[in-house]
Amino acid sequence: MAYKYVDDIANIISEQVDIVSVIGSRVPLKRAGRNYKGLCPFHSEKTPSFTVSSERQSYYCFGCQKGGGVINFLMDYENLDFITAIETLADQQGIDLARYLAQTDEPAKDYSKLYELNRQAARYFYRAMKQSEKARNYFKQRGLSDETVFHFGLGFAPDSWNGLIHAMSPKFSLKTLEQVGLTAASKGREYDRFRARVMFPILDLRKRVIGFGGRVLSDQQPKYLNSPDSVIFNKGYHLYGLFSAKDYLGPDKRVLLVEGYMDVISLYQHGVKNAVASLGTAFTEHQAKLIRRFADSAVILYDGDRAGQQATKRALAIFFGLDFPVYVVTIPEGDDPDTYIVKHGQAAFEQFVKDNMTDGYTYLLNLAKQDLDLTQISGQRSYLQQALTIIKPIQDDMIKQVYLNQISHDIGLPVEEIIRTPIKQPAPASKADDFRATLLSLLLQELDVTKQMRQHPFYDELPGAWKQLIEFIISENGYNIELAIERFPLDVCAVFDQRRREAVSPKDRQNWPVLLRQLLVEQIEQDIRRINQDQNLSQEEKLKQVINKQKKIALLWNKETQ
Ligand code: UTP
Ligand code: MN
Repeated sequence: MAYKYVDDIANIISEQVDIVSVIGSRVPLKRAGRNYKGLCPFHSEKTPSFTVSSERQSYYCFGCQKGGGVINFLMDYENLDFITAIETLADQQGIDLARYLAQTDEPAKDYSKLYELNRQAARYFYRAMKQSEKARNYFKQRGLSDETVFHFGLGFAPDSWNGLIHAMSPKFSLKTLEQVGLTAASKGREYDRFRARVMFPILDLRKRVIGFGGRVLSDQQPKYLNSPDSVIFNKGYHLYGLFSAKDYLGPDKRVLLVEGYMDVISLYQHGVKNAVASLGTAFTEHQAKLIRRFADSAVILYDGDRAGQQATKRALAIFFGLDFPVYVVTIPEGDDPDTYIVKHGQAAFEQFVKDNMTDGYTYLLNLAKQDLDLTQISGQRSYLQQALTIIKPIQDDMIKQVYLNQISHDIGLPVEEIIRTPIKQPAPASKADDFRATLLSLLLQELDVTKQMRQHPFYDELPGAWKQLIEFIISENGYNIELAIERFPLDVCAVFDQRRREAVSPKDRQNWPVLLRQLLVEQIEQDIRRINQDQNLSQEEKLKQVINKQKKIALLWNKETQ
């Protein structure tokens, strides 16, 4: 019989742990009214907008809109998965998790057999490589020493349909092989997935083999075949080479992000040992967080071609989102980090990186400039729009100032004018959005609309929470965050905050009576359902009340948009 934590382990932990002490031991907090405040650990800021509520056991940052409960905080702050976050909290608070283990019919989540299979498979590929002159020559021809080949555990899958299946049986069943994607099936027959390929085992941080990449020795397609995702291999959560690179980050703790397995390996061969690569899939936020866990900055070294540029932009956006220092180096057309260092050697490579390292924002600004004529008004205009969009996410005022100066210099327009230039919003996609959200945005942003709502003849029918908010806004002569977090629960304020950022169109503004009517009608319909279900009311009384409510709905529909 296997065990697992009871389903509501998350709630149990959340209830037993005080969010203020957990966050407070990591982020300095000060009491502010009924909440606590501090500088947000998730973005850089000078005035505290990171708010923690003891009452609601939740946090929210009014600067970057991150928020949630204690588990969620720990997951983000220490980059932990859900269960590890729970176990960490339990450990720190002396909660005995064993008490919350329940018996379950589900199979135990013990994947050690799968890791072991992958390890054995890697050994099989390594031995096969040693025996294959072709494979050994391939690595030699790419400049890899025996040592490097051993360090990365490189191997060779022979040209056989069942070499691996045979070698792994009877210790591992076909089903187990299938589970980690070492086999593929056709017409009900299982065969080795990797054949006649040099093999790149993919190791996690604990140096367990979680998957493989296999490369053809010729220039056939597809060049690389990768293990499919499996229960132990989620490509978006790992980085090729990090198991090793993390030990070579150097005094400035820097990671190089390259495109290919071979880039990582070849750089290592030439003494540049701090490179990692994503796994044949787009770079993800999880991977960025993984880098952040070990490094203080990252350098993206993707190809200079169009695809490389697009991938660079996407990776930059992810790093910017984490407020993590990131630089870009563009390798000259036709080369990748591997071919460059093979041709020119370590010293030249390092010099090239040093000379060409541009910070992420400057890289994007340069890219925007590339196809524009900045001596022409039209070019300047277009550049200014793109540039303002690029630097918009920068939180730190001083850093923003640096880029504003740069832009000012680029187009010869004073910074004050640049700041005054409105960013043209792309036309919002018409969305059949939840009317509640729009209504809420309206009353949080447009005081006169709120006042008109207050005058609505059916105002009293509104749900209590809405009335409370409307009263609050009118009494304060407009919505005020500082006062709101004294009055309303933090998670509710978080919703208000998000609604206040949502732009309302003039059409929504005009449309408020229709939106309000919809809210009223839904509320009254809900009242009717409640009346009908009320056990304490006589049939007669029910009928009377329901008719009364229905009349109101009819009246609401008859009232023209006033
Ligand atoms: P590259 O083509 O740049 O690979 O693709 P590379 O590592 O430099 O290989 P060499 O130098 O030609 O031997 C970059 C990465 O994209 C993924 C692999 O992860 C590869 O390392 N890829 C590429 C695939 O998954 N499948 C492919 O068919 C090609
Ligand atoms: Mn390459």
